[in-house]
Amino acid sequence: MGAAAPEPRPVAHEERDRVIITVTLNAAIDKSLSVPNFRIGRRHRTVEQRTMAGGKGVNVARSLMTLGQPVIATGFAGGATGTRIVEQLTQEQILNDFVRIGEESRTNTSVHDPTSGSETEINERGPAVTEAEAELFRDKLLYLARGAAIVVFAGSLPRGVEPGIYAELVRDLHKLGVTTMVDCEGEPMRLAVRAEPTVVSPNVLEAEELVGHEFHDEQDRVTAVRQLRELGARDAIITLPDGCVASLEVDGRPAAFRVLIEPREAVAAVGAGDAFLAGYVAARYTGSAPEECLRFGVACGAESIQRLGAGRIEPRGVERLLAEIDVQRVETPAEAL
Ligand SMILES: Nc1ncnc2c1ncn2[C@@H]1O[C@H](COP(=O)(O)OP(=O)(O)OP(=O)(O)O)[C@@H](O)[C@H]1O
Ligand SMILES: [Mg+2]
Repeated sequence: MGAAAPEPRPVAHEERDRVIITVTLNAAIDKSLSVPNFRIGRRHRTVEQRTMAGGKGVNVARSLMTLGQPVIATGFAGGATGTRIVEQLTQEQILNDFVRIGEESRTNTSVHDPTSGSETEINERGPAVTEAEAELFRDKLLYLARGAAIVVFAGSLPRGVEPGIYAELVRDLHKLGVTTMVDCEGEPMRLAVRAEPTVVSPNVLEAEELVGHEFHDEQDRVTAVRQLRELGARDAIITLPDGCVASLEVDGRPAAFRVLIEPREAVAAVGAGDAFLAGYVAARYTGSAPEECLRFGVACGAESIQRLGAGRIEPRGVERLLAEIDVQRVETPAEAL
C-alpha cells in the first residue's frame, strides 16, 4: 500500500507463503436439480437438489480448498443473492473478499436427468456492473495480489465490464510478479491470451474459437496448443473429456504433452474444467513437475464428474485415479525450434 510497484519481473514467482486468488466476476448461486425423465413442458419433482455458491472461479476455489491449498475467492456479489453467495462461501470455510455491487447476482439452474444422462443448464443474464464498481474491484485485486502467488481468472463477465478486463489485469499482475491463469471464452479470452498470461486452459470448443478453426484429429489439437502459445500464452492446455493436450515451457523450451484417461459415465460433467484447473493450480503451487500438474488436473476433473455440484471433489478418489492416467510427451518437429 502506498509503496511503489516493484520492477516487472520476466518470470513469475510462486512462494509458499503467498496465497492463490480466484476471480469470479459473474459469481452465482448454482442450483443443481436431479429430475428423472425430464421433459420440456412438463411438471416435475426433484429427487435430489443442491444449492451452492458458484461461477467458475468460485468452483475452482472450492476444489482448491478441498485440496488443502490457501485460497481467497474474489469478484462481484450483489443483492440478496450476492449476500447468499458470500454466506455460503463462508459456511464452506472458503475465504472470500468480494466487491458488493448494486445489482443482483445471478442464480443458475442445471437439471440433471439420471435416466437419460442429459444435463440442461439455464443461466440468468446477471447484473450490470458500473464503471466505479469495476474500478473498486481492480483496486481490491491489486491489493490482494501483493500477497498472492497465483491469480486464476475463470468464467464469463457481467454486463458493463470491458471485455479487455482480464487482459488488463493480467498485465498489471505480471508487473507484481504474480502468475496468472485464464479460463474463459469469446472476446475476453481472445484479448487475455494476447496479454501473455502464464496459463490458459480452454476446452476444445473454446480453443477452436480462439484459433479460428475446427480440430479434426490429434495433430490439429497439438498444433492448436502451440498456436495458443504463439498468440501469447506461456503455457497452453486444451481440456477434453478424455484428458488434455498441452504445450508447456519445460526448462525454458516448449514441450507438448497428451494426457489420457478412459472417459467414464458422468453424474454431472458441469464444472469438470474448473476441477481440472484447480488440480493443475494446486500441483503447480506445490512445485510438481509440469507433466504431474497435468496428471493431477485430469484426475481432479475426472473425479469431479461423479457428483452434483461444480468443484466438489474427493481427494482420496483423485489419488486413486492418478494411476489410471497416462501422460505422453508428444514429439513434434516444430517443437525443436
Ligand atoms: N466423462 C469424463 N470422464 C473422465 N474424465 C472427464 C470426463 N469429462 C471431463 N473429464 C475430465 O475433466 C477435465 C475437464 O473436462 P472438459 O474439457 O469436459 O471441461 P469443460 O468443458 O471446461 O467443463 P466446464 O466448463 O463445465 O467446467 C478433462 O481434462 C477430463 O480429464
Ligand atoms: Mg471450462
